[in-house]
Amino acid sequence: MTHKIILDTDPGIDDAMAILFAEAHPAIELLAITTVFGNATIENGTHNALWLKQQYGMKADVAQGAVAPLRREPVGPTTVVHGPSGFGDVTAGEVTLAPDPRPAWQYIVEAVKAAPGEITLVTIGPLTNLALALQAAPEIAGLVKQVVVMGGAFGVNGHRGNVTPYAEANIHDDPDAADRVFTARWPVVIIGLDVTQQSFFSSAYLDALRDDAGEPGRFLWDVSRFYLRFYSERIGLDGCHVHDPSAIAYVIDPTLFTLRAGPVRVISDGPAIGHTLQKFDGKSHPHDEWADHPDQQVGVAVRDQALLALYRETLVAWGRSR
Ligand code: BDR
Ligand code: CA
Repeated sequence: MTHKIILDTDPGIDDAMAILFAEAHPAIELLAITTVFGNATIENGTHNALWLKQQYGMKADVAQGAVAPLRREPVGPTTVVHGPSGFGDVTAGEVTLAPDPRPAWQYIVEAVKAAPGEITLVTIGPLTNLALALQAAPEIAGLVKQVVVMGGAFGVNGHRGNVTPYAEANIHDDPDAADRVFTARWPVVIIGLDVTQQSFFSSAYLDALRDDAGEPGRFLWDVSRFYLRFYSERIGLDGCHVHDPSAIAYVIDPTLFTLRAGPVRVISDGPAIGHTLQKFDGKSHPHDEWADHPDQQVGVAVRDQALLALYRETLVAWGRSR
């Protein structure tokens, strides 16, 4: 079975890892890459996406999206993690391709309406484009196959936040958008730090990918040097967590993850801004801001070694065939 996906992304080093994973796996048809501010400015992120399309001969359209969050003060690009332009030490060179003329939200609305029930939206950046798409055309909630989100942290396995003690970066960048996406009546699967910080690309794993996965393996090694320096200097780890590729892995093989059902809300102000909370006990309360919202699915466990094997096998097979 082939999964038609639109990948909404802020490229981004681990975003590049996810984009190539989606392009490489035969069970995924990557229809489009829509960009959003986040790890890089929208201009740099869109340039990085177009450069990947050009380098790897990808068929996917690229549509540029939101420059800033819906309401909160912008946090600014995460240059400390992803480097000045989003791709670490790698500079995406000249690009001769142009993005689709439509803004990302419009691209998403039109693509979903043209293929009702067929498209999976995968988000690996802030959720602003999806919130804008829902605002313009709420009916798309009933037309999307599913939404798979890399974002959030629910305290499972001890993971609560990476940019604040209680918030994950993609949700912290636009908590209002995230709350709209999580409370809409469409099926959402949330692959947050609870599972992405349970999987680890060691430095040795990335070295082996460089040696065995042809040119894409070498690119992934090059682009990950800055990221690994951040992990080593700031977190004391010899490798990196597997954030964005985990969302793609879920689409390919949902059995890699264990999910928990319940409505999800996002704190939109104050010291816990960007904190994600799921109600999963079904209890009734006199005041309940979760009660009228649909159950969504939150990843609470991952078969990490199987996920690492899937990523490696996919990239090695694709890299060697090129
Ligand atoms: C998420 O934040 C970004 O820095 C990464 O690309 C990933 O999408 C992890 O918290
Ligand atoms: Ca990302």
